[in-house]
Amino acid sequence: METTEKDKCYSSETEERIWFSFSRRHFLSLAGWGLLFAAMGGYLVRFFWFKHGFFYPKVLFELSPRFAVGEPKSFAENSVTKLKSRRVFIVRDGNSFKALSIVCTHLGCAVEFSKEKNIFECPCHGSKYYRNGVNFAGPAPRPLDHYEMVLDDIGRLVVDKSKVVVTETKLIV
Ligand code: FES
Repeated sequence: METTEKDKCYSSETEERIWFSFSRRHFLSLAGWGLLFAAMGGYLVRFFWFKHGFFYPKVLFELSPRFAVGEPKSFAENSVTKLKSRRVFIVRDGNSFKALSIVCTHLGCAVEFSKEKNIFECPCHGSKYYRNGVNFAGPAPRPLDHYEMVLDDIGRLVVDKSKVVVTETKLIV
């Protein structure tokens, strides 16, 4: 059937009416639904992304407990070097090396090495440790943790904080 000029006018009038009736109420309604769906979408993304790591690679973002600290010659003879970021002391006496935890065995404060007294001291409750990490004063119940230390293939000292070794352990190079 052929469209007459009258039909065309009517059709265009209807569109115009739809547009006008759409304007405020429908806009607000659509905006409300849009916000609702956006909130639901945000919640789902957050749920899968952050809570379950759905889109996240399965990797650990913490430092490895095993790390190289440098060649033996980079530590002065008879020195105690604090590696703050790794929370260990490297103690060198002649050709022997030890890796000691900086964490006090009483309540976990960071101990400091006193060059003058040649001991480790805890600022929190006064525990004291000999240079070899053995406790001798204050409330600390045991020596500082000693970590395994080895030489790697290219001659670097490597500390493994996941392996606590007995107090007498030392690496001779
Ligand atoms: S935490 Fe070190 S003495 Fe208490």
